[in-house]
Amino acid sequence: MMQAKFDPKVFQLGFVALETADIERTKDHYLKTIGMAETARGDDGASYLSVGYNHHDLVLRPAKQKALLHLGYQLKPHISVADFTRQVRDLGLPATIKTDSQPGISELVEVEAPGANIFQFYSAAEAPAPGFAKSGVAPLRLGHVAVMSSDGDKLIRFYRDFLGFFPTDDIGKLAFFFTCNRDHHVVNILNVPESRVHHIAFQLRDNAHHAVAADALRAAGAKTLWGPSRHTAGHNLAGYHYDPDKVLVELYTEMDVFIPELGLHEPRPWHEYSPMKPRSWGLDELNAWGSEFAFNLAAG
Ligand SMILES: [Fe+2]
Repeated sequence: MMQAKFDPKVFQLGFVALETADIERTKDHYLKTIGMAETARGDDGASYLSVGYNHHDLVLRPAKQKALLHLGYQLKPHISVADFTRQVRDLGLPATIKTDSQPGISELVEVEAPGANIFQFYSAAEAPAPGFAKSGVAPLRLGHVAVMSSDGDKLIRFYRDFLGFFPTDDIGKLAFFFTCNRDHHVVNILNVPESRVHHIAFQLRDNAHHAVAADALRAAGAKTLWGPSRHTAGHNLAGYHYDPDKVLVELYTEMDVFIPELGLHEPRPWHEYSPMKPRSWGLDELNAWGSEFAFNLAAG
């Protein structure tokens, strides 16, 4: 069977930028509890935070209220910012090339996509490698982001038809998972009548790390709201908590590995289907183990 072409223009989610009404409180969570390092401060009061290697994986900018500011994606090496910008403009979308607009990234293009989602695409970023934390959660990397969009159909078309992301699964035709690499999903788009970030997700070292992370959260007064438990779509073992702005943060391990050449996921003993191909899951199939949690993750 012919598989859909897999040729995305980007290869990874670089960073998520959030606005926050109390930057000191929010930053405290990501610095001390998650264990990120501040690599730079912006003239606008923004804080640039690194998991351990990249210049920044998360940006926090002070504002009147919390909001998703933008998402940073890194372009494939053979696609220049200039060429990419032309393609965006051919699509009829506003695109602004910015030079030295943020520390760590000398050139990027900012794109306003459907649903008022702002993207920043770039080719190169500094990697000062401030080191991984020896306390707190200390995750390995930023893995994916989930956004709710009232213009979800258009946003999905931008990801799928323009950026070349591959659809790997959906839940109830409401949550749609897409990848631009071998992770089951790099973005999850919830097509619902609301626009905001649903969660940001960090990968942990291994499953034992879930307990270490949950204890670190508890010590900081942050409750684990859901999980850790195994999802169906993606099969990641995931636990969720709120940051001080009530932005959901997911900590996960064992996410499915997508093989684009075969259009399926690497087989795992816990898969419900063999081969594990992209599929549509039911709205009641969020949790593979059937564990009950008081927190409604779908609404979170
Ligand atoms: Fe997630």
